[in-house]
Amino acid sequence: MSTAPAQRATAVPNDLEAYWLPFTPNRAFKAAPRLIARAKDMHYYTPDGRAVLDGTAGMWCTNAGHNRDPIVAAIQAEAAALDYAPAFQFAHPKAFELASRVAALAPGDLDHVFFCNSGSEAVDTALKIALAYHNVRGEAARTRLIGRERGYHGVGFGGISVGGMVNNRKLFGALLAGVDHLPATYNREHQAFSKGEPEWGAHLADELERIVTLHDASTIAAVIVEPMSGSTGVLPAPKGYLPRLRVICDKHGILLVFDEVITGFGRLGHAFAAERYGVVPDMITFAKGITSGSVPMGGVIVRKGIYDAFMRGPMHVVELFHGYTYSAHPLACAAGLATLDLYRDERLFERAHKLEPRWAEAAMSLKGLPNVLDIRCVGLTAGIDLASRPGEVGKRAYDAMDKAFHQENLVIRAAGETIVLTPPLIVSEGEIEEMFAKAARVIKAVA
Ligand SMILES: Cc1ncc(COP(=O)(O)O)c(C=O)c1O
Repeated sequence: MSTAPAQRATAVPNDLEAYWLPFTPNRAFKAAPRLIARAKDMHYYTPDGRAVLDGTAGMWCTNAGHNRDPIVAAIQAEAAALDYAPAFQFAHPKAFELASRVAALAPGDLDHVFFCNSGSEAVDTALKIALAYHNVRGEAARTRLIGRERGYHGVGFGGISVGGMVNNRKLFGALLAGVDHLPATYNREHQAFSKGEPEWGAHLADELERIVTLHDASTIAAVIVEPMSGSTGVLPAPKGYLPRLRVICDKHGILLVFDEVITGFGRLGHAFAAERYGVVPDMITFAKGITSGSVPMGGVIVRKGIYDAFMRGPMHVVELFHGYTYSAHPLACAAGLATLDLYRDERLFERAHKLEPRWAEAAMSLKGLPNVLDIRCVGLTAGIDLASRPGEVGKRAYDAMDKAFHQENLVIRAAGETIVLTPPLIVSEGEIEEMFAKAARVIKAVA
């Protein structure tokens, strides 16, 4: 019989070794850690008390700002009232309330909500619903899924299969079978330094027709795209591109999924980007901003016709064999409700919309700085492409991110060789100035 103790007698406090950081160069991080101990509103605080301006809303998620009192209070109250209720065969009242509130924000007849815990789970859920939907309607041959080059849909096998970022795919085997990709919509030659949606590129939606011709519509289940590709470095949809995709999908009976994990909850000045573009997709995936990053949560909003297609068969039989232990977790629902109240009461989506021109102007002021090849912006997002140093792709933007944190007290994001800025929606005009002034100094420092 083993006599090993349940826990080691001495834990090693503050040892950096055991933690394997996600999407992070671990050795470089552990040599010079960027540690955050607290946060409030627009700022982080390091363990030694340095205030650091948050230029990225965490990771596109703390849209209402950090540690907002009503959200904190709602989480605390729910933790004391209901830690957990089974997600299958049982439910708690706040799950219904939050689903209704989310559905009310979504356009058209997108009025049923399936909850999960992250953007990756939301994407895999949406892809599974698409396949099952065609199946229950007797079109089981519709199994192909279409994504887009440079798309990011999280890290589940479904998400990386339809995604189009090579480093996220290349080490992980054959992925899902029967996936095809639309071309990326970015072309620097035609679009450099566009404010908002570029004029050039709507015709790239017609590539879907080519894919339909290749495979036949009867084999295609769904198309999934981000209205604005975020993780690949802020690529707004070209003008007219998304409506064109909608028309082609309708023509061929293909479901259209908008992955709004980033663009949902105000990032582009609306509850969902679908509203900005006047397009009603068949499903919307969301996460991040639903709780302003405070508790993990994701979900899929589906059109009434999709939900209804499953509501058949004997009453006691499960209609969709899918779900998670923590679907609609009580703490996440409480945080979500408090977050949606804040968005409404402080009119934060309208605020993002109003700030967009000021933001775009400030972003474009970086044009002409050393190594700046392109700047893109839409809503409260900006992507600044830098020229790579010879043989070191990504190193300049990485150094910029590191210097911004340690020397300028600013958090920015490095996506490949792109600097990305996406502040909380409570950002003030003064903080926008401060953010881009700091970013300018950093860009000069890594020249
Ligand atoms: C468009 C999109 N989909 C899915 C995801 C994955 O979300 P998560 O990291 O919560 O799994 C992300 C994350 O950034 C995203 O931007």
